[in-house]
Amino acid sequence: MALVLRGGRVVGGTGVRRADVRISGGVIVSVGPDEAVAGDDITDVSGKFILPGGVDAHTHFDLPLGDGTRSDDDFASGTRSAIAGGTTCVIDYATQFRGESLNRGLDNWHGLADGRCFCDYSFHLAVTDWNGSVADELPGVMARGVTSFKMYMAYKGALQVDDGVLYEALRRLEDLGGLLCVHCENGDIISALSRELLRAGKTGPEHHPASRPEELEAEATGRLLVIASLAGAPVYVVHVSSGASIKKILEARSSGQTVFAETCPQYLYLDDSLYSPARADAAKYVCSPPLRDGRNHAEMWSALSKNIADVVATDHCSFNFNGRKDRHNCDFTGIPNGLPGVGSRMMLLYLGVARGLITMPQMARLASENPARIFGIHPGKGSITPGADADIVVLDPDGKSVITAETQFQNVDYTPYEGWEIPCRIESTYLRGERVFHMGRFLPGGPRGRFVRRRAAGVF
Ligand code: URP
Ligand code: ZN
Ligand code: ZN
Repeated sequence: MALVLRGGRVVGGTGVRRADVRISGGVIVSVGPDEAVAGDDITDVSGKFILPGGVDAHTHFDLPLGDGTRSDDDFASGTRSAIAGGTTCVIDYATQFRGESLNRGLDNWHGLADGRCFCDYSFHLAVTDWNGSVADELPGVMARGVTSFKMYMAYKGALQVDDGVLYEALRRLEDLGGLLCVHCENGDIISALSRELLRAGKTGPEHHPASRPEELEAEATGRLLVIASLAGAPVYVVHVSSGASIKKILEARSSGQTVFAETCPQYLYLDDSLYSPARADAAKYVCSPPLRDGRNHAEMWSALSKNIADVVATDHCSFNFNGRKDRHNCDFTGIPNGLPGVGSRMMLLYLGVARGLITMPQMARLASENPARIFGIHPGKGSITPGADADIVVLDPDGKSVITAETQFQNVDYTPYEGWEIPCRIESTYLRGERVFHMGRFLPGGPRGRFVRRRAAGVF
């Protein structure tokens, strides 16, 4: 027996059309005007948007910080929250720490995630310790279905790599068809600025943004793009937060480079007034890059509406405020960096649609189709077409949601969007044809998430 979602507004990357979606064996078998046959199980979804399940290409679940602590959402709570928010696949940043092989880093992340995920999942692999034998592991790691990697130009003394390493990695990945994702901020200067601020007695969380101005993001972005050009390699810039960085990306593209750009809801909605010294909870908003101002928000929305930015991911990296983020008033550099958000991304994108800033097809591309294409899982993920996995979100534009810490599924004591009213409801989420979340409740069973092996990252 097949399942038919009847009469919804099916959203694809190029348009919206009224159609039935027929599902069998976990995959979409047909999409068209009248697909049901006798015996099918029919669900009427007229008036609702039928979107491809979200693909969140940037999460940090269960991330060790190096001091024996970890980020507060693990793979179970993080992916449960993803499902409730309409995301059916996450690509988390597995990390090779100093002294580890790449395969060890990847094994560690499988150990954290396998059997615990409510949605499908894959990994990028962050490389923090580059050498010849690590480079020689790349083909084997790619054969394990991990075809994108990450390097950090910030977090000096911890995750940061130097420019020569970036160049060498880009050269090797270009040969292999892998894609490098890069955190672009100038870590050396951030470190110097931070010391200067602390010496001047500027120790509270309100000084975090002054230690990481947008110039240092744009400088690192521009530098990366010069390095990538010399290496002849495509590159993916994670969590772009400023118009100045977008400008660098456009310049590189205009000289023929392949550059993908990702941003996150926090760089579209949350402004740097949240770091005001008048706020007792400024530490909640400490993330890197830091929140920017309204001018940057407008420039980032413009980059989305003009199809300049390719992906909206979350960079979900959650730490409780009480007892964790609130403990570092004497040294803001000790505040664990990151914001929660995996559960609210789709709603926040829809808010952008409701405000006329992007269209529904753009939402489908930014949330699902583009990350699936870039990271080598399209059309199995990110599309509502015959043969694709039946990962589907039913979004009710007549419903209402309020984002609150009290009702969220994320395992963290706050949400940066507390009390925000969203003019839609994620009514149901289907994972490979099974309805796993409906009307605010999880269906019994699960976890059901499977590891998704990815092809060499797609360049489109
Ligand atoms: O503040 C952030 N973004 N924390 C997560 C790690 C990273 O830089 O992506
Ligand atoms: Zn980062
Ligand atoms: Zn991140």
